[in-house]
Amino acid sequence: MTRAQYVKRYPTAERCQTAVRNYMWLVQHAAPVRLPALQAIRPTSLTFELVQGRHAQPSDLPRLATHLGDVHGATWMNDLHRAQLGAVHVPSTELEVPDYPSSRQKALAARHAAGFLPTTADLDASLALLAQTAIGPAAFYKDTNPRNLLITANAVVTIDFDELTLAPFGYDLAKLIVTLAMTYGPLPANALRDALDRYNQAAAHHHERLGRTDMGQLSAFMSLHGVLTAPYLGRHGYRFRAPNPSAGTGLSDATKDIA
Ligand SMILES: Nc1ncnc2c1ncn2[C@@H]1O[C@H](COP(=O)(O)OP(=O)(O)OP(=O)(O)O)[C@@H](O)[C@H]1O
Ligand SMILES: [Mg+2]
Repeated sequence: MTRAQYVKRYPTAERCQTAVRNYMWLVQHAAPVRLPALQAIRPTSLTFELVQGRHAQPSDLPRLATHLGDVHGATWMNDLHRAQLGAVHVPSTELEVPDYPSSRQKALAARHAAGFLPTTADLDASLALLAQTAIGPAAFYKDTNPRNLLITANAVVTIDFDELTLAPFGYDLAKLIVTLAMTYGPLPANALRDALDRYNQAAAHHHERLGRTDMGQLSAFMSLHGVLTAPYLGRHGYRFRAPNPSAGTGLSDATKDIA
């Protein structure tokens, strides 16, 4: 009998190796996360257990926020309490996790060149936001968009190991919020606050230093994701523009609060 499998192909062996490294790091350090079994590693493809589940939807946000807070809190306890957001984290010789700012500085410059940050003042403001958010305990970014979480009958399964970097607490929750809104339309402001409360509560359960992300920081992260994800509008199911965290959500202009 053939086992149910999902084969993911990569354009280069290097990208495939990165995905394997990321997967292994999650297995070792991100205890509450549920991953599909990795059944075969080939030079440019990976074979995973086929997960019977659906993509995440806005109604899943409360439980997903709790799940992410739990995963990030556990990972900080296991490993990331040793990490600094501004420096590559090297828990072992093979499983390093890139820093938070470097790749995003490059990506923001690319968005400016492509016209998504029209003026140099726009670029400078985004770079300043990035620098201001590179503080505090380290969690990680794993591109938490609705297609990278599969909701099964009894679990939330995380897939897609192509990207992994250090990131502040709340950053990957903001990615989920922005990409849910780009896929399904604007979310009510109280859904954001409720998600942040649940995320913080779950993270704080692991250590009292964690779970302190505020709405101003969440808004800053959402602004960054809005710019970084803008080129993908019209693809990957993104039918709506990224939410503007300072308008339409009922939030104050919180990005200015932390500037
Ligand atoms: N192990 C799996 N079991 C079941 N379905 C899977 C599995 N891995 C991936 N998929 C399906 O394939 C889709 C794309 O997979 P993945 O996210 O790894 O690739 P991607 O290139 O990042 O695509 P996308 O840009 O849509 O996220 C997932 O959203 C999911 O629907
Ligand atoms: Mg994906």
